[in-house]
Amino acid sequence: MEIVEQLKEYAKKIDATIILPEANIDKRVYLAGKEILDKKISKLIVFGKSEEYDESFKSGDCEIIDISSYKDLDKFATELFELRKNKGMTIDKARELIRRADYFSMMLLKAGRADGVVAGATWSTADTLRPALQVIKTKPDKPIVTGIMLMVKEGADPLVFADVSLIENPTSENLADIAISSAEFIEKVLGIEPKIAMLSYSTKGSASSEMVDKVRIATEIANKKSKYLIDGEMQVDSALDKATAKKKGISSEVGGNANVLIFPDLNAGNIGYKLVARLGGYTAIGPIMLNFNKPVNDLSRGSNVEEIINTICITKLLV
Ligand SMILES: CC(C)(COP(=O)(O)OP(=O)(O)OC[C@H]1O[C@@H](n2cnc3c(N)ncnc32)[C@H](O)[C@@H]1OP(=O)(O)O)[C@@H](O)C(=O)NCCC(=O)NCCS
Repeated sequence: MEIVEQLKEYAKKIDATIILPEANIDKRVYLAGKEILDKKISKLIVFGKSEEYDESFKSGDCEIIDISSYKDLDKFATELFELRKNKGMTIDKARELIRRADYFSMMLLKAGRADGVVAGATWSTADTLRPALQVIKTKPDKPIVTGIMLMVKEGADPLVFADVSLIENPTSENLADIAISSAEFIEKVLGIEPKIAMLSYSTKGSASSEMVDKVRIATEIANKKSKYLIDGEMQVDSALDKATAKKKGISSEVGGNANVLIFPDLNAGNIGYKLVARLGGYTAIGPIMLNFNKPVNDLSRGSNVEEIINTICITKLLV
């Protein structure tokens, strides 16, 4: 697909090192890493013993780290303890956690030894993201991390769906931040002017309830906080179909032209992107986690090799 190939080409030009913590425990991650190195798409760090890897991983573009004998292991444990002691971390617990590939990856990333992490082929989303939220944290000007999905299909304009993977029940303030971060992504990474629809089961007051108010207020906040074209609350047919938008009183350019769809909660967002992928023939790229201090991306446990390679490329684009 053209857009995917374009993104890969951009990613290839960025000089960055990505950590793949599961390359020695998952065949798909191993094969993705091998292809990344063979095609010179990225530099990598993987974990384990040298004998677990073939020649592709032994080039100058890949570092193989054996966590148990890593020189700074105790230093990392102390730093993790200092970072989390106010949250109940003990030094013994930090020494135990730092030997795990998830926490070790985050400390390596925090120390500046790499530029991004791609993980989660064998771990749940929560287990991948919790260490990242605790150690890497959000960029100083961003209150939340959000998980978006880039939806692509041959012959159709790309769409961004958010949040699809992280924030279960966002507040109005959260929804506004999700909208603005998603807009920044589509503008900066894809070079497309964002048109953002704040989705609901109601369009411009056709229904009235707390759920609708949440989206209406989010739209007001997002419009106050940003220069982007943002409209809502609206139903998804008004966002995607001009005639429906007109009939339902959407006068802005967002009606019928939306390319960023902000869902009111994680149930809607996660179900929504999967319906569009399964029934609409779109390919879902992501989830792409926005606003971490340094990029960390979570793989679905069902990911194939190609999807893992795409996620590595997207991670480089966020560096
Ligand atoms: C990611 C998740 C595990 C975090 O929740 P949790 O483990 O209960 O952890 P907490 O709520 O205690 O948060 C841990 C830390 O992350 C921070 N945090 C949580 N969500 C955050 C977000 N969206 N943005 C920024 N920080 C966040 C908290 O403030 C907390 O920081 P602190 O410990 O330094 O105070 C939770 O949001 C979750 O399970 N989300 C759904 C993920 C999922 O299953 N998705 C499936 C679809 S793919």
